Amino acid sequence: MITIIGAGKVGGAAALFSALRKLSDEILLLDIVQGLPQGEAMDLNHMLSEQGIDVTIRGSNDYSEMKGSNIVVVVAGSGRKPGMTRMDLLKINTSIVKGVVENIKKYASDSMIVPVTNPLDPMTYLAYKVSGFEKNRVFGMGNMLDLSRFKQFIHEATGFSRDSIRSLVIGEHGENMLPLARYSSVGGIPLISLLPKQKINEIVQNTRQVAAKVIELKGATIHAPGNAISTIIEAVVRDTKQVMPVATYLDGEFGYSDVSIGVPAVIGKNGVEKIIEPELDSYEKEWFKKGIDSVKNAISDMEF
Ligand code: NAI
Repeated sequence: MITIIGAGKVGGAAALFSALRKLSDEILLLDIVQGLPQGEAMDLNHMLSEQGIDVTIRGSNDYSEMKGSNIVVVVAGSGRKPGMTRMDLLKINTSIVKGVVENIKKYASDSMIVPVTNPLDPMTYLAYKVSGFEKNRVFGMGNMLDLSRFKQFIHEATGFSRDSIRSLVIGEHGENMLPLARYSSVGGIPLISLLPKQKINEIVQNTRQVAAKVIELKGATIHAPGNAISTIIEAVVRDTKQVMPVATYLDGEFGYSDVSIGVPAVIGKNGVEKIIEPELDSYEKEWFKKGIDSVKNAISDMEF
C-alpha cells in the first residue's frame, strides 16, 4: 500500500499519477482536514472507474490506517505564501513534518519515507533524524521536478524529442540547484556540442527560476511534482534500479556529511541502493557547495 500524507494539490496529483501507473492496489490519502481526503479519493475513484483501472483510493483522517504501507509520501504542509519568509515556512513545516514522521514511525515502521514538503532538503534531513530509519529508506523528491523542467527547456531549445533527452540536476532543491549540462545529452549526443554556451547558461538560469514563474501564474505547481513523486515510487515498487536524483543523507559522499541534499542514486526495492558520485568541475563544485551551505544553515535553524 502507498500512503500519501497531505491530500492537497500535490498529494492529490501524486495519487492520480500513481494510480494511472498502477503502482499499488491501494493508495491511502491522509489529511487533517475532515472530508478533504475522502472527497479527493471519491473524485479519483470515479476517474479510475471510467479508466477501467482497479486501483482503490481511500481517504482518511486517521494516521493508524497507514499500517502495512511500504511507501509513505510526506507532502503535508504549507507552501510559501506572499509575505511569508523562508524561515516562517521552515518553522511551520518543521512542526508539521515532525508530527507526521512520528506517526509513520508508530504505524509504518517498515516503510520508506519520501518527503516532498518544502524546504525539501531540510525536511528530508528532519524525516531521517526523527524516524531513525536507515538512510536508504528516506529519500526526498525535489531534483526530479527540477530535472523535468531542465529537460523541457532542452526540448524547447533543440526541438528534438523529449524521449531522447537524458539529463541530471543535483544539489539543493531551490535557488542553488545544479543543472548539469555536462552530463546531459540528446540521443547520446552531448548537449554541450548541440547548443552554444550562452544558450545553455540561459537554460540553466531558467530552470532555477521557472518554479517561481509557475507559482506567480497559477498559484502552485501541481502536475509536474505529482508525476515526479510517482516516478520515484515506480522505481521502488518495480525495482527498476533507475538512476535518478533524490535528496538523501550524505555520509562523506561528495566530501560532505550530516546533511541531506539531492544526489544521483540508484533507486530500487531497497530505496537508495547506491549513491553515484560523478566528478564535478570547479564551477559545479561551487554551486553544489552553495546548496550544502544553504541546507546546513536551515538545519541549524530548525528546532526539533
Ligand atoms: P496544499 O496546501 O494544497 O496541501 C497541503 C495539505 O497538507 C493540506 O490539505 C493540509 O490540510 C495538509 N496538512 C497540513 N498539516 C497536516 C498534517 N499534520 N497531517 C496531514 N495533513 C496535513 O499544498 P501543496 O501545494 O499540495 O504543497 C504541499 C507541500 O509540498 C508544500 O510544502 C509545498 O511547498 C511542497 N512542494 C514540494 C515540491 C517539491 O518538489 N519537493 C513541489 C511542490 C510543492
